[in-house]
Amino acid sequence: MVKVPVEVKDVLSNQKILPVATASSEGVPNVIFVGLWKFIDDERLLLVDNFFKKTRKNLEENPIVAIVGFDGEMPNFRSYQVKGRAEITTSGDHFDEASEMSRSKELQAKAAVIVHIEEIYNAAPGPDAGAQIA
Ligand SMILES: Cc1cc2nc3c(=O)[nH]c(=O)nc-3n(C[C@H](O)[C@H](O)[C@H](O)COP(=O)(O)O)c2cc1C
Repeated sequence: MVKVPVEVKDVLSNQKILPVATASSEGVPNVIFVGLWKFIDDERLLLVDNFFKKTRKNLEENPIVAIVGFDGEMPNFRSYQVKGRAEITTSGDHFDEASEMSRSKELQAKAAVIVHIEEIYNAAPGPDAGAQIA
């Protein structure tokens, strides 16, 4: 796992709705939006599964997740890709937290997906586009 730099945390947190990409075991890609999520700490994200369908199936056969965020405010135009390995939990503290986050939106959590962050890349345009930063 890697530690998420504060600027990456800021960009994802300010974006609020995260595009989350997964792939099947055969490599078929899928991308969704996730609004119910939080950083657990500097190395892990929690995604709340209320409605995951292809996403859940993909995660069960291939746990690798990619997320992209951007902050279009000038002059700080920033964008980062975060990649990690997902762990699906349906009980315990993180599931309880997912359930609590869901209740506030009158939804029900089916699972808590903990993303253990493994790689972070700069995804803003310019000479450092694509550079691995963690
Ligand atoms: C703005 C927005 C936010 C969403 N947030 C969540 C969420 O937090 N959790 C969730 O399970 N689904 C959420 N969804 C629904 C998923 O994007 C998607 O419909 C669901 O995972 C089924 O797609 P799939 O079969 O590709 O997994 C959200 C959709 C939108 C448009």
